[in-house]
Amino acid sequence: MDDNQQRKDFNSTESDSQLSADEETLLDQLGIVGAARRKFLGQSMAALLGTFAFHLLAKEEAFSTLAAAPDAVFAPAPGVENAVKVLLKINGSAQRLEVDSRTALLDALRETLGLTGTKKGCDQGQCGACTVIVDGRRVLSCLTLAASCEGKEVTTIEGLADGDNLHPMQAAFIKHDGFQCGYCTPGQICSAVALLQEAKNGDASHVTNNLRTSTQNVALSDEEIRERMSGNICRCGAYPGIVAAIREVQSGRETAQAWHFASDEEIAVALNEEGKADATV
Ligand code: FES
Ligand code: FES
Repeated sequence: MDDNQQRKDFNSTESDSQLSADEETLLDQLGIVGAARRKFLGQSMAALLGTFAFHLLAKEEAFSTLAAAPDAVFAPAPGVENAVKVLLKINGSAQRLEVDSRTALLDALRETLGLTGTKKGCDQGQCGACTVIVDGRRVLSCLTLAASCEGKEVTTIEGLADGDNLHPMQAAFIKHDGFQCGYCTPGQICSAVALLQEAKNGDASHVTNNLRTSTQNVALSDEEIRERMSGNICRCGAYPGIVAAIREVQSGRETAQAWHFASDEEIAVALNEEGKADATV
């Protein structure tokens, strides 16, 4: 192998094989060899792909504005794959669904039944936003197959109020300011409602002191409430209000509301003081 041949092999890249003899000569004359050549070819390819993608998008946009011809024939929408029929009782009314056997209860509630009160946070059992109550026990609906709930009773946040009367736990969350953005709140409230039943049953938790003395209708300490609610994450950090709300409903001991909506007079005073402060700046 002569020197020229060796130099050529060393400088060659996969992309070089795409070049014509003239293009290779031109790059050699311009002194674009080795790493510089590979960089140059890479940049050229990226620019070409960018231009191609831009044209593709422009065409797609243009096509999307065209109306379909009157005699156009459309392919039928794909049916449900692996379809299974499930009969559920959701918030008191029987619902017959046909879903993919792999559908999570969360998706069946939100996508099939339009019950969007139940929220999807992590979709992998980490945050508790999707908590609903199935046959009296709280479950993570993102980790529960809809098909496994055949014949069961499902309660979501939409099913807790009695007409215009909020569930006591919903009212307590408002009273104790147990939420800010509200995204985790449906899951928190469903979890808290099921927790009341667990306390009634005398179910133990990780911080229960004596597992041998199972006491029913136990008044939960704040530590117990925090532990039992630890699967429900609140990104806004509304935990003090959440614990206060659950404590009040669980113990039945009413505490004073620590906030109120400002009256017209209070708003007027606040605006007046704000005006004075602005004037002194
Ligand atoms: S969405 Fe189910 S646990 Fe987060
Ligand atoms: S209120 Fe915002 S995440 Fe809990």
